[in-house]
Amino acid sequence: MPGKLINLRNVIDLRGGLVFVESQKDINFEIKRVYYLYDLKNKKRGQHAHKDLKQIMICVSGACNVLLDDGIERKEYLLDEPSVGLLIDSPMWREMYNFSDNCVLLVLASNYYDSSDYIHYYEEFKDFVKK
Ligand code: TYD
Repeated sequence: MPGKLINLRNVIDLRGGLVFVESQKDINFEIKRVYYLYDLKNKKRGQHAHKDLKQIMICVSGACNVLLDDGIERKEYLLDEPSVGLLIDSPMWREMYNFSDNCVLLVLASNYYDSSDYIHYYEEFKDFVKK
């Protein structure tokens, strides 16, 4: 199954909510990079695969859809809860779309940015998975 939703630890009291993620405890990798997408113009993002990267995507504000494809199966997720993370293993093709106006998509990643870890063409991804 491509991707897995996990419920993150969420501390809610009268003042509001607080979600936290601890490296190698809540997720099975060390977090080396954090980035977020914001001010999204309802154009598709992603549309590439990573060869060797683990990630967790959290829609900390608003909502969006994430399509994951491991070369065998495709699955579309709706991320609309700040306390739910989508675990993404590799190799995995991903597309993100249907961003709400206030959408902020936070990504925790197992490695530093490396352009050589990207596969930009779906057919190339299919060949990579076959090998
Ligand atoms: P990209 O990964 O293609 O974004 P998305 O999957 O959301 O469409 O990255 C967009 C641009 O940002 C690209 O030029 C690479 C750059 N970038 C970094 O410099 N560091 C990073 O950690 C990331 C994720 C992207």
